[in-house]
Amino acid sequence: MGDYRSVWSVILVVLLVTCASGEDPYRFYTWNVTYGDIYPLGVKQQGILINGQFPGPQIESVTNDNLIISVFNSLDEPFLISWNGVQQRRNSWQDGVYGTNCPIPPGQNFTYVLQVKDQIGSYFYFPSLGMHKAAGGYGGIKIASRSVIPVPFPPPSGEFTVLAGDWYTQNHTDLKATLDSGSDLPFPDGLLINGRGSNGYTFNVDQGKTYRFRISNVGLSTSVNFRIQGHKMLLVEVEGTHTLQNTYDSLDIHLGQSYSVLVTADQPAQDYYIVVSSRFTSQVLTATSIFRYSNSAGSVSGPLPGGPTTQIDWSLEQSRSIRRNLTASGPRPNPQGSYHYGLINTTRTVRLQNSAPVINGKQRYAVNSVSFIPADTPLKLADYFKISGVFSLGSISDNPTGGGGYLQTSVMAADFRGYIEVVFENPEENVQSWHIDGHNFFVVGMDGGQWSPESRLIYNLRDTISRCTVQVVYPMSWTAVYMPLDNVGMWNVRSENWAHQYLGQQFYLRVYSPANSWRDEYPIPSNALLCGRAVGRQTRPL
Ligand SMILES: *[C@@H]1O[C@H](CO)[C@@H](O)[C@H](O)[C@H]1NC(C)=O
Ligand SMILES: *[C@@H]1O[C@H](CO)[C@@H](O)[C@H](O)[C@H]1NC(C)=O
Ligand SMILES: *[C@@H]1O[C@H](CO)[C@@H](O)[C@H](O)[C@H]1NC(C)=O
Ligand SMILES: *[C@@H]1O[C@H](CO)[C@@H](O)[C@H](O)[C@H]1NC(C)=O
Ligand SMILES: *[C@@H]1O[C@H](CO)[C@@H](O)[C@H](O)[C@H]1NC(C)=O
Repeated sequence: MGDYRSVWSVILVVLLVTCASGEDPYRFYTWNVTYGDIYPLGVKQQGILINGQFPGPQIESVTNDNLIISVFNSLDEPFLISWNGVQQRRNSWQDGVYGTNCPIPPGQNFTYVLQVKDQIGSYFYFPSLGMHKAAGGYGGIKIASRSVIPVPFPPPSGEFTVLAGDWYTQNHTDLKATLDSGSDLPFPDGLLINGRGSNGYTFNVDQGKTYRFRISNVGLSTSVNFRIQGHKMLLVEVEGTHTLQNTYDSLDIHLGQSYSVLVTADQPAQDYYIVVSSRFTSQVLTATSIFRYSNSAGSVSGPLPGGPTTQIDWSLEQSRSIRRNLTASGPRPNPQGSYHYGLINTTRTVRLQNSAPVINGKQRYAVNSVSFIPADTPLKLADYFKISGVFSLGSISDNPTGGGGYLQTSVMAADFRGYIEVVFENPEENVQSWHIDGHNFFVVGMDGGQWSPESRLIYNLRDTISRCTVQVVYPMSWTAVYMPLDNVGMWNVRSENWAHQYLGQQFYLRVYSPANSWRDEYPIPSNALLCGRAVGRQTRPL
């Protein structure tokens, strides 16, 4: 029996190595990260450019592709890129956040080796250190289905990426200094669509044709609403889940979220407004771009199409209407409904409550009273090299503690193959947006008030979507998710409100397998950068 098992695991390792690196195609990117002048709101600013572009180049990939991305840091400060929604199976070594990777020093380069294993959908990348995200450095990620896998709608005539979000005219170092001094960010100065302010960007379409728009909220502070004058949107995909194809006049997109819609150019040939506006803000920011028919008879006219007039209930209703198509395929040919997420018993419940404590006289943000502070060594490296004193497991509780708030390098321990219920509880008066790296989760419920075990009675255990970023819309409310812990590694759990994230509303989830096998987790990459107390340690030889 024992012999069979070890033979089998050798075969698995061989299969894994060939699958991961032999058969699936490779795509190579070389990115030079520089500062450069940009004028998104008409004011000259120093933006973070990738190969001279803002937004950066789009990653075009197909399920299971290997992405080899060499990043040359030509800034005068350390830099990292992270991949919002790319799961990086067995490979948190490539996640590109403070807790997994040493920053790329100025003037140096690092090559990310990722595989978009078993994924489809629309995502984005962004610079993860400090407040770099306020300077740009982001771009779209598209993972198309393999040609042999059916997609539940006809191929569109074209595709567009829409990276929308709020923007500040202050630069990232000034914004960071504001946060470091214990103040909140000011209200944003405007909204951008693909790096441009109002009417700075045009989407060209042909009459009668249908286009896929992949829309992400890449902003720092505000939810947005997206709509196209005179046109309906057919929702088809949310962060890798093919949805029931409902029609919407407008869509709320919370911080860090991504949606795909189909839009048919079925109106008289002219120019139309595409509108993005801020949501749940007392002052409403708006940006427009142009949806232009190739035989356009005239430029944009008329009032901008209005957004939703009601706030929270509308948004909650809309998010409940977004459900998975149980008979459509996902990244694999089997129907999305064949994984009966609602029939699996959860192994643990984690309740995460956000708060905004003042600690040592400064505004901070916290989860279960812990406000995260970085240590001197990336947590993944400290874990691998068994460097003690960097973090301790269990440094954040599974339940709200009700305490005032304290600083800690918080890491939660979790078992590989567990199936956990996570409840995000929001006792504050603002909208929250939460992201978990390395995983997708099933959004089983959201409602106003305080979560209790009875809240489970309203869970959708049949056809909810699986995604990686979820909002908690109501002030004083909750959102519950079921999450298979199917990815060993050190994973960031964070608020997508960037000031909250920067000021401590995040922690790391260490998904652990005692097997210590390539089947569960790849070994440290031979090119891993070493820093802090990991300097001088030995990475894997080439
Ligand atoms: C990156 O761009 C800068 C500015 O154009 C240039 O000086 C530098 O040589 C480039 N580096 C690489 C590695 O291409
Ligand atoms: C940096 O770039 C050089 C030249 O392309 C390459 O040989 C080297 O492996 C890269 N270093 C890392 C850490 O990726
Ligand atoms: C669900 O997917 C199936 C299979 O691709 C497709 O035929 C059907 O139209 C989709 N249904 C809805 C409501 O989107
Ligand atoms: C940001 O602006 C300040 C002046 O307000 C300047 O001192 C600083 O160098 C700028 N930082 C960057 C990265 O442009
Ligand atoms: C879930 O738990 C219930 C109650 O303990 C048990 O009866 C049931 O068999 C379990 N289901 C699965 C799929 O393990």
